Amino acid sequence: GPLRVLVLGTALRTASTNARLASLVSRMMTEAGADVDLASMREFDMPLYDGDAEAAHGVPDGALALRDRLERCDAFVLASPEYNASVSGVVKNAIDWVSRVRPQPFKTKHALLVSASPSLVGGNRGLWALRVPLEHLGTRVYPDMFSLASAHEGFAEDGQLTDPALQERLHETVTAFLHLVEADTRYVCLQRR
Ligand code: FNR
Repeated sequence: GPLRVLVLGTALRTASTNARLASLVSRMMTEAGADVDLASMREFDMPLYDGDAEAAHGVPDGALALRDRLERCDAFVLASPEYNASVSGVVKNAIDWVSRVRPQPFKTKHALLVSASPSLVGGNRGLWALRVPLEHLGTRVYPDMFSLASAHEGFAEDGQLTDPALQERLHETVTAFLHLVEADTRYVCLQRR
């Protein structure tokens, strides 16, 4: 069947530019034949990680719901903002909670990281920071990343990027990522036969 990809915007605000970027990636992947699950971290409400709360009540429902959505996909995309030259607390907290579940859901999954920011670097430092916990957990983080600078003026009415060269570059990144996941998924299926 088609590749299943979870595309997750990790900023909570409704007008999030990262959510808009997630929608665009989702559209590109759907057009490329993938079965896309577009989501926002807003759907996965969870408290700050607390070992006492975990000992008393286990992993919270919001983190378990995110685990379920991850489990149903072959690969995932995170559209994540950069806060203070690093990853946002929201996404790090979610990774920490989800990493407590067994089997550990991030292991061996492919991931593509994208970001949007009003600044000139486009949130790229946040993505480098996001690689650290994901690679630690065994996620195959795609080497190429996409960061949209000046994101507040980066989208046209129809949700495409205003800069055609950037639109093309995003499209190339997304399709190259899908090809890699497709080839790897097929290889794993052959090995299991
Ligand atoms: C930011 N922002 C920001 N942007 C950036 O490019 N580099 C940075 O280091 C920071 N730092 C930062 C810290 C904090 C606490 C906030 C709230 C914001 C700006 C950030 O990129 C901007 O708010 C984006 O619009 C956030 O993404 P969404 O909400 O549009 O998806």
